[in-house]
Amino acid sequence: MSADKLECLFERFTGDSPIFLNHDVLRHDFIPDELPHREDEILRFGEVLAPSLRNLKCSNLFVYGKTGTGKTAVARHVLGRLYRKGLEVGRRINVCYINCRTVGTEYRVVSAMCSTLGIKIPFTGLATAEVLKRFKSCLEFLGSPFIVVLDEVDVLVRNYGDGILYTLTRINEELKNSRLTVVGISNDLYFKEMLDPRVLSSLSEEEMVFKPYTAEQIRDILLQRVRLAFRPGVFPESTLNLCSALAASEHGDARRALDLVRVAGEIAERQGYPIVREEHVYEAKRKIEHDRVFEVLSTLPLHSKILLYVLYVESPHHEITSGRLYESYRSLCGRLGVEVLTQRRVSSLLNELAMLGIVNTQIANLGRYGRTKRIKIKVSPKTLEKVFSEDPHLSDVFHGGVVKGF
Ligand SMILES: Nc1ncnc2c1ncn2[C@@H]1O[C@H](COP(=O)(O)OP(=O)(O)OP(=O)(O)O)[C@@H](O)[C@H]1O
Ligand SMILES: [Mg+2]
Repeated sequence: MSADKLECLFERFTGDSPIFLNHDVLRHDFIPDELPHREDEILRFGEVLAPSLRNLKCSNLFVYGKTGTGKTAVARHVLGRLYRKGLEVGRRINVCYINCRTVGTEYRVVSAMCSTLGIKIPFTGLATAEVLKRFKSCLEFLGSPFIVVLDEVDVLVRNYGDGILYTLTRINEELKNSRLTVVGISNDLYFKEMLDPRVLSSLSEEEMVFKPYTAEQIRDILLQRVRLAFRPGVFPESTLNLCSALAASEHGDARRALDLVRVAGEIAERQGYPIVREEHVYEAKRKIEHDRVFEVLSTLPLHSKILLYVLYVESPHHEITSGRLYESYRSLCGRLGVEVLTQRRVSSLLNELAMLGIVNTQIANLGRYGRTKRIKIKVSPKTLEKVFSEDPHLSDVFHGGVVKGF
């Protein structure tokens, strides 16, 4: 029987999808030819970089705004267009887009810049200063402008400091024939505070802020993508409006809105519906949230997970006092053979969990017995169970069925 069901499932996937026309256009890295509601930002970005077509120095640019507001899409769109315009008029413009989160290290940032110029750099073995030297002399030799976009630049600065930004924004002082322009992008609104004032002032010769999209703007963005992604008539207007409203109520993030559309479509397809309905959107929302919470929980440090385990076992639906939580935490650490953290440290881990929205904490006044904190967990037991069973330290205790009193 189950084999037949499997056969049916496979059979459904052998033909074309009745729902999707082109699933790829809903991927995170797809950039459409047109970016609705970012016309002004595209133009402004273009204005800053256009002098490179005359081999002039452009201002450095710093772009920031919340996640999913189109910063990466706009940057890649403008870079691509500028590069093609350069080719069209016979001017070489070196454009280099780097995502600092994926590229990771300063060394690899400079290596990526070198590879745009065709210089091969070994994976390791050279000092970053040496790689920079090779970059400078090749650029000087070519005599053409170079634009580097450092996307998610806050990740680089958090890990390595702002030394590389300082060097890159000063490089022009040593170049005679060519010009380097740095574009930094970040969604961390506190990033500026991490920078040395000199670095900040050279990086943000020009500044742009991307605002969150409104519900109507998200609707237009989704409409454009739905037309490309789905078969005609499969994604009704009411479903589209619901996706826009839900996404706009959560910070106007276009990425989340597109995720809702994609996952709702996948759910409808899996359940064999010919159209994507509102209930699929609600289900998609739950799934996305669950996945997101799961990701946050599973990457927590061990001691935070131990605290959650105690909360899960002792009081899945009720509050627990901080004193009792600490006692049970100590006893579980003993069982697991891990070092016990001080009460103070545990209290700061709890604050972090509260900030992430995983637990609720409330100060309770116990009259003449002083004050205590009451803690309550906000995540569903099902999600927690999945996290514990996949954690190398906790899975044994979890599967061992330790219920009370460890
Ligand atoms: N105006 C727009 N038109 C069409 N698609 C858009 C628009 N703005 C954003 N998107 C799409 O939304 C998704 C998120 O956009 P993007 O990656 O540019 O956001 P971001 O501001 O760089 O976010 P983060 O800070 O998280 O990196 C992408 O898939 C992008 O194609
Ligand atoms: Mg981005």
